[in-house]
Amino acid sequence: MVSLLFIACAALIASTYAQTPKYVEPSVPTGVPISGNYSGALRPQVHFSPPKDFMNDPNGMFVDANGTYHLYYQYNPTGVVAGNQHWGHATSKDLYHWVNQQIAIFPPDAHSNIYSGSAVVDVNNTSGFFPHQDNGVVAVYTINTPTSQTQALSYSIDGGYTFQPYSGNPVLSDNSSQFRDPKVIWHAPTQQWVMVVAYAQALTVGFFTSDNLKDWQHVYNFSHYGLLGDQYECPNLVEIRMEGQKEPMYLLAVSINPGAPLGGSITQYFPGSFNGSVFTPVDGAARIGDFGKDNYAGQFFYGIPGDQDQISIAWTSNWQYSQVVPTGPSEGWRSSMSLPRVNYLKNVSRVGYDLVSAPSSLAPVINTTALVRKTMGNGSVSLDYSSVTSGALYFQINITNIPVANITGTANFTFSSSRSGESLKAGYFLAPDSAFFIDRGNVRGFDNPFFTDKFSTSCPYNSSASSLTWSVEGVIDRSILEVFINGGESSATVTFFPEQELDTLKISSGDLNPAVTVNAVVYGLNSAWARFEDAHGTVAGNVTSQKD
Ligand SMILES: *[C@@H]1O[C@H](CO)[C@@H](O)[C@H](O)[C@H]1NC(C)=O
Ligand SMILES: *[C@@H]1O[C@H](CO)[C@@H](O)[C@H](O)[C@H]1NC(C)=O
Ligand SMILES: *[C@@H]1O[C@H](CO)[C@@H](O)[C@H](O)[C@H]1NC(C)=O
Ligand SMILES: *[C@@H]1O[C@H](CO)[C@@H](O)[C@H](O)[C@H]1NC(C)=O
Ligand SMILES: *[C@@H]1O[C@H](CO)[C@@H](O)[C@H](O)[C@H]1NC(C)=O
Ligand SMILES: *[C@@H]1O[C@H](CO)[C@@H](O)[C@H](O)[C@H]1NC(C)=O
Ligand SMILES: *[C@@H]1O[C@H](CO)[C@@H](O)[C@H](O)[C@H]1NC(C)=O
Ligand SMILES: *[C@@H]1O[C@H](CO)[C@@H](O)[C@H](O)[C@H]1NC(C)=O
Ligand SMILES: *[C@@H]1O[C@H](CO)[C@@H](O)[C@H](O)[C@H]1NC(C)=O
Ligand SMILES: *[C@@H]1O[C@H](CO)[C@@H](O)[C@H](O)[C@H]1NC(C)=O
Ligand SMILES: *[C@@H]1O[C@H](CO)[C@@H](O)[C@H](O)[C@H]1NC(C)=O
Ligand SMILES: *[C@@H]1O[C@H](CO)[C@@H](O)[C@H](O)[C@H]1NC(C)=O
Repeated sequence: MVSLLFIACAALIASTYAQTPKYVEPSVPTGVPISGNYSGALRPQVHFSPPKDFMNDPNGMFVDANGTYHLYYQYNPTGVVAGNQHWGHATSKDLYHWVNQQIAIFPPDAHSNIYSGSAVVDVNNTSGFFPHQDNGVVAVYTINTPTSQTQALSYSIDGGYTFQPYSGNPVLSDNSSQFRDPKVIWHAPTQQWVMVVAYAQALTVGFFTSDNLKDWQHVYNFSHYGLLGDQYECPNLVEIRMEGQKEPMYLLAVSINPGAPLGGSITQYFPGSFNGSVFTPVDGAARIGDFGKDNYAGQFFYGIPGDQDQISIAWTSNWQYSQVVPTGPSEGWRSSMSLPRVNYLKNVSRVGYDLVSAPSSLAPVINTTALVRKTMGNGSVSLDYSSVTSGALYFQINITNIPVANITGTANFTFSSSRSGESLKAGYFLAPDSAFFIDRGNVRGFDNPFFTDKFSTSCPYNSSASSLTWSVEGVIDRSILEVFINGGESSATVTFFPEQELDTLKISSGDLNPAVTVNAVVYGLNSAWARFEDAHGTVAGNVTSQKD
C-alpha cells in the first residue's frame, strides 16, 4: 500500500513538474564532484577508492564508444558506514587513473535509497528516451525503502554524467523487500535485453527479458545452485571466451552474503550456456573466484564483445568488518575497489572450467625500471622500498624446472615494516601437496573476530608435463594485497591495516630440488592519484563539469 501510494504520488508530481523527484540531503553536493585526500598511509594508490566516506558495490560499469570506462558505486556521501545509498561515479581511460565525477544518481525521497544495479548504452533507442542520439545510457537499479525493493530506471543524455529518473518507475516489483541488484545485458541472437536479478532470500536468480528496458517478462529462475549462504546478491551474466574454443560461453556470477565458507561475503560463478531465457551450467560444481576474504559483488563492464577478455572490478572488503576497519576514523573513507581484471575461461587440470582472472595491463602505472631482478635456486633477496613514494609494488615470482616426483621446498615473500616489525607473509609449499598461503596475522592495526588471519589454496600440478612450473604475481598497495597464481588460475584479495607502513620485501626459497630455478622481479608503481592533487594534496575531481 505504501509503495502504491508512492507511485501514485510520483506520477502526479511527474505530470505536474518537468522534473521527476530527486531528494538531496542538505549536506550532499550536486553538480560537482566531492574532493578527496588520497595521501593517507592506508589509502591505496593504484586502486580506486571514494574521495571520502563509505563505498561498497561497484555499479553500472560500462565502456562508452570513446573507450571511457564508467564506474559507479554504492556510496554514502554522509558517513563512513553504509546507509543513505547513492550512485557515486568515476571515469577512466586506462582503468587506473580515475576522475571523480559528480554523484550520478540520487534517491527519489528521504526514505529511499539507490541500491546496486547496472547500466547499458541504448544505441538503438529501444527505450525511446533518446530521440537524437546513439550514446544514451540507461541505469537499472534497485530502489530500497523500509518495506520494498523494486527495480527502476534513470537515463542519461550526456553519456552517463547526469541522470534523469524515469517517470514510470518502478519498472519491476515483486511485492518483496528482498528483490535486488539488476544486471542487464543485450542478447543479440534474440534481439532483447536480459536482466538477472536476485530474489535474495529465496536464493534464486530471476531472469527477465525486455524489448524496451521498461516492460519486463519473467522467463526463468535459477534457484539453489552452488553455495547458498543466507542470501544471493549482485548476479552478473556475461558472454565470455573459453580458451581453445571458437564460440564464447556465458558465465553467471552470484555473490553470497552472509554465509561464505570463510565467513561473510564472497562471489561464486557458474560457466554455462544461455539461449536468451534459460541458463544451463556446465556441471553441478560450486566455484569461488577468490581464496581471500575481500572480494565481493564484482561486476563486468557492459560493452565488451564476447570474444574479448571481459573486464571486471569488485569491492575489496567483507560485510563482516567493512564498516569498522580503521580507515574510517583515521582517514575518513572506507573501502576500495579491486584492480581491474581481465577474465576468460580455461580448462585447467583436474577441475575443468576455471575463471582465469589477472590484472589488466599495469602499463599506465608501472615504473619499468626493476627494483630487483634475481635468479636463484635456494637463496633470498631483500628490498628496502621505502623510496617508492606510492608504497605500491608489482612483483612476479616464477619457479621452473620442478621435477615431477620427490618434490621438496618452499618459497616465500614477506612484506614488513622496518619501524614496527609487522609483516604480511605469503608462501608456496611445493610439497607434500602443492599449496599457497597468505598470513596477515602479524599486521596489527586492526583486530576483529571475523578479520580472519590466514588463507590458503591448493595449486595442483599439471602432471602431464615433463617438468613443472609455478608462478605468482601480485600487487601490494598500502592496505591491499592481490595475488594471481599461474597466470590467474586462482587469485586472492586480502586487505590489511598496518600500524606503520610496510617498506621491506624479502623473497626467500629453501629446500628446493637442485635444478629448480626461482626468477623474481619487483617494480615500483606510480600513484594514480598524485597527478590530480593540488598544492595542498587535494584531489578535486572533474572541476570542468557543466551543471545539468
Ligand atoms: C591529507 O591527509 C594527510 C594524512 O591523513 C594529512 O596529513 C594532511 O594534512 C591532509 N591534507 C589536507 C589538505 O587535509
Ligand atoms: C566522444 O567524444 C566526443 C568528443 O569529445 C563527444 O562529442 C561524444 O559525445 C563522445 N561520445 C560518447 C559516447 O561519449
Ligand atoms: C526514439 O524513440 C522515441 C520514442 O519512441 C521516438 O519518438 C524517436 O523518434 C526515436 N528516435 C529515433 C532516432 O529512433
Ligand atoms: C504483499 O506482501 C504483503 C506482506 O508480505 C502481503 O500482506 C500482501 O498480501 C502482498 N500483496 C500481494 C499483492 O501479494
Ligand atoms: C541495434 O540494432 C542492430 C540492428 O538491428 C542490431 O544488430 C543490434 O544487436 C542492436 N543492438 C542493441 C544494443 O540494441
Ligand atoms: C521465481 O522465484 C521467485 C523467488 O522464489 C518466486 O517468487 C517466483 O514466483 C518464481 N517465478 C516463477 C515463474 O516460478
Ligand atoms: C531455451 O532453452 C529452454 C530449455 O531448453 C527452452 O525451453 C527455450 O525455448 C529456449 N529458448 C530459446 C529462445 O531458444
Ligand atoms: C623509476 O624508478 C627508478 C628506480 O627506482 C627511479 O630512479 C625513477 O625516478 C623512477 N621513475 C619514475 C617516473 O618514477
Ligand atoms: C624418489 O625418491 C625415491 C625414494 O628415495 C626413489 O626411490 C625414487 O627413485 C625417486 N624418484 C625420482 C624420480 O627421483
Ligand atoms: C616459508 O614459510 C614457511 C611457513 O612459515 C616456513 O615453514 C618455511 O621454512 C619458509 N621457507 C623459507 C625458505 O623461508
Ligand atoms: C614469469 O613468467 C611469465 C609468463 O611466462 C613471464 O611473462 C615473466 O616475464 C616471468 N617473470 C620472471 C621474473 O621471470
Ligand atoms: C566532466 O564532466 C562533464 C559532464 O558533466 C563531461 O562532459 C566531461 O567529459 C567530464 N570531464 C572529464 C575529464 O571526465
